[in-house]
Amino acid sequence: MRRDSFGSRFGALVALAGSAVGLGNLWRFPYLVGENGGAAFIIIYIVFVFLICLPIFISEFIVGRRSQKNAFAAFRDLSGGSGWRWVGLMTVIVPVVVTSYYSVIGGWAVEYLFKSFTFSFTAEAQSVIDTMFSDFTSSPWRPLICHTAFLCVTALIVVMGIKGGIEKFSKIMMPLLFVIVMAIAVYSLTLSGSHKGVEYLFRPDFSKIDAKSCAAALGQAFFSLSLGFGTIMTYASYVDKKENIMFQSTATAVSDLMFALIAGIAVMPAVFAFGLDPQSGPGLVFETLPYVFSQMPAGGLVAILFFIALLVAAITSSISMFEVGVAYLIEEKKMSRIAACSVLLAVCWSVGALCSLSFGPLSNVRLAGMNIFDFFDNLSSNILMTLGSLLTVLFVGWRLKKTEIYDEFTNGGTISANVRIFGILWFLIRYVAPVAVAVVFLSGIIA
Ligand code: PFF
Repeated sequence: MRRDSFGSRFGALVALAGSAVGLGNLWRFPYLVGENGGAAFIIIYIVFVFLICLPIFISEFIVGRRSQKNAFAAFRDLSGGSGWRWVGLMTVIVPVVVTSYYSVIGGWAVEYLFKSFTFSFTAEAQSVIDTMFSDFTSSPWRPLICHTAFLCVTALIVVMGIKGGIEKFSKIMMPLLFVIVMAIAVYSLTLSGSHKGVEYLFRPDFSKIDAKSCAAALGQAFFSLSLGFGTIMTYASYVDKKENIMFQSTATAVSDLMFALIAGIAVMPAVFAFGLDPQSGPGLVFETLPYVFSQMPAGGLVAILFFIALLVAAITSSISMFEVGVAYLIEEKKMSRIAACSVLLAVCWSVGALCSLSFGPLSNVRLAGMNIFDFFDNLSSNILMTLGSLLTVLFVGWRLKKTEIYDEFTNGGTISANVRIFGILWFLIRYVAPVAVAVVFLSGIIA
C-alpha cells in the first residue's frame, strides 16, 4: 500500500509549524519569560533555538525523510537493525505519554472557551477567578469530559490521514491562529500602561540568568520545537524528497519563535496594563488572563478569541504527537489507521484521566514526590525529551555516514546553498549540539 504524504510544500510547512506552535508558545513561553528575567531569557532562548535546536531539528528531519518510515523503524533501518531501535521505541512512547497530559490542558482550554462564550469572566475580584480555576481542575467530572472531547477531536483529525486530516486542518487553522494572536497583540499594545509590559519583555536583565534559567530556556526550546519526541521525524517521513530540508526547518523554527514573541506581546502588556503580577507561573493563562479579560474593554470578545487560539494551537500540536504512535502501529503492527487511532485513543485517555484526576480526587497519590501530572510532565518534558534529542543528534552525527547525511540534506548535491553550509551544519550536529545539550541539562540538574 502506498504511504500517505503531505500534498504540498505549504501543507508540510503549516503542519510542521502547527506541531511546533502550541501550548508551549501561548501558555508556557510567556510565564517562563516572566519567571526568568524578561528579555535576557528571550535572548538566550533565541541563541539556543538557532545554535542547538535547529541542528537537532534538521537531524530529526534527515532521519525521518531518509527512511520514510515511522520513528521506530527509522532508527532500526538506518542503523542496520542495531540497538538504536530502542531509542526509536522511546521516541514513540514519549509522545503517547505527552499527548495524554497535553490533552488535559487542552481540555482546560475547551472549558475556558465555553466559559468565555457564557460570559463567566465578569468577576470584580481576582480571587473569584482564581477559585473558579481551582474548583474546576479539582472537580472530577468536568475536566475529564473536556479531556475526552479534546482527545476525540485529535483522534478524529488523525484518522482522516496525513493529506485529508492533518494537512487540511493545519492549512485552515494556522493562518487563523496567526491572525487571532496578532490581533490580540495589537489590541494589548493599545491599552494604557501597556508599555511597562513591553519594557519587561524587551529590556534584558542578565542578573536573573543562571544555570537554572538556561536549562529552562533550552527545555522550552526543545518542547516548543517538538524535539526529542519522534514527531518531526514522523512528519518529515511524509515530506516530499524534492523539498529543501534547510528551508522547511528554518521556516518552522522562525514561525515558532515569532508566535512565541507575539504571544508574549499579546499577554504581557495586558497583564501590566492592569497592574498584575507577570510571574504567576502556569496560572497566568487560566487565572491572570481571565481577570484581565474581565477588566478590559471588549474583554468578552478578546477572551473568546484567545481561547479559540489556545485550543487551535493545542490541537495542531496534539495531532502531531498522536500521529507518531499511529504511524508506528500501522507500519509495525499492521493495524488499519482507524484501529491504530482507537487503540491510542484508549491508551491516551486512560493515562490522561489519571493526570486529570491528580488535581482532584487523586491529588494524594505521589510518584517520586510529585502528583501524577507533574510526574509525567517532568519525566517526559524534562528528562526523556532531552535524552531523545541528545541521542538523535548523536545518532546522526556519529552513527550515520556523513555521505548519507550530505546526500539527504542537499538533495543529492542539487541544492547549492545547502552544499555551502553543510560544513557548518555538520560541525554543529557533531560537536556543538551534543555538548551544549549535555552541559545545560546537567548544570540545570545540579543547580
Ligand atoms: N511544540 C508543542 C508546543 O509548543 O506546545 C508541544 C509539542 C508538540 C511537543 C509535539 C512535542 C511534540 F512532539
